[in-house]
Amino acid sequence: MKILIADKFPKHWVEVLKEKGHEIILNPALDENTLPEAQKTEQAEIIIVRSTKVNASAIDAAPSLKLVIRAGAGYDTIDINHAKTKGVAVCNCPGTNSIAVAELAMGLILSLDRRIPDNIIDLKAGKWNKTEYSKAKGLYGRTLGIIGLGHIGREVAKRAQAFGLKIIAFDPFVKESPLAQMVSDVYDLAKKADIITIHVPNTAGTKHFYDEKFFEAMKPGAYFINTSRGGLVKEDALIKACAEKGIRAALDVYEKEPKADAKEFVDPVTSAVNIYGTHHIGASTEQAQDAVAEVAVQIVQELADKGTFLHQVNK
Ligand SMILES: NC(=O)c1ccc[n+]([C@@H]2O[C@H](COP(=O)([O-])OP(=O)(O)OC[C@H]3O[C@@H](n4cnc5c(N)ncnc54)[C@H](O)[C@@H]3O)[C@@H](O)[C@H]2O)c1
Repeated sequence: MKILIADKFPKHWVEVLKEKGHEIILNPALDENTLPEAQKTEQAEIIIVRSTKVNASAIDAAPSLKLVIRAGAGYDTIDINHAKTKGVAVCNCPGTNSIAVAELAMGLILSLDRRIPDNIIDLKAGKWNKTEYSKAKGLYGRTLGIIGLGHIGREVAKRAQAFGLKIIAFDPFVKESPLAQMVSDVYDLAKKADIITIHVPNTAGTKHFYDEKFFEAMKPGAYFINTSRGGLVKEDALIKACAEKGIRAALDVYEKEPKADAKEFVDPVTSAVNIYGTHHIGASTEQAQDAVAEVAVQIVQELADKGTFLHQVNK
């Protein structure tokens, strides 16, 4: 099959696809604006993307298109409904990068509690401030609230158990779990938790859900971690809560996130007081990228061998 890969993809798995007889067009420089033209030229049957957005124009660019593979978990970067109307399947690679994101979430929790980034910046600047940095609360016995107990939320819960955290969780589709005590109301969770981490999909229904009302419900001085999607959080409300209520936040994702190859990102949320940020690196470990690529190749083979779609999200 002819496959256009419009993002970075591990070399080993590109070779595997070629060995299986597929024609590969690898163009990691493509973006939302240039993908439609490239697809018009290439007439690929399959498009594989990581962060490159696939809009209606890319889907309409060639009648040959059968499948778009999102090499990752979230698929809010792909116009899945338009794809459905055009008979194009969209498949994702669920669960493959959950451990990587959970590891980052744990790192961010520890960073917030011990203010590790500030510690390091001060030390590098030649400052010794043991008195200030000895003020950490500690994690053991505190309450972690996990919102969204899916693939990533569950991996976070397993790791948090090892730290002796008490785990509560809210997920409208999970009534019971051996990993956490479920609560039935998200604001109830916000009131009880010392640390909140969100692992939910970004949909029309969840956009800006984490707003003034939510931060108002949180305990003063509690921690808030978002490694899911920027659009879930009303960033000005978070900035205010961090400045006025002593909430401390760590974000891996942002509402106005720059493109993967951008060199600059200046935004009020990245420089705000009490907010740490990373560069949307949740899934970016070699282990995770390898696991994602393996599943992407399985999806290709399932279509090539059986004509069926594995992990289709727009049935
Ligand atoms: N930072 C990164 O690099 C990175 C990498 C991978 C995934 N993600 C993001 O992480 C998020 C979670 O991914 P996942 O693989 O765990 O997804 P998942 O589908 O396995 O789990 C999501 C869970 O959220 C629950 N949910 C749905 N709506 C909810 C709501 N309104 N409130 C609470 N829970 C709700 C679902 O029932 C499900 O259990 C997604 O937004 C994904 O895009 C980020």
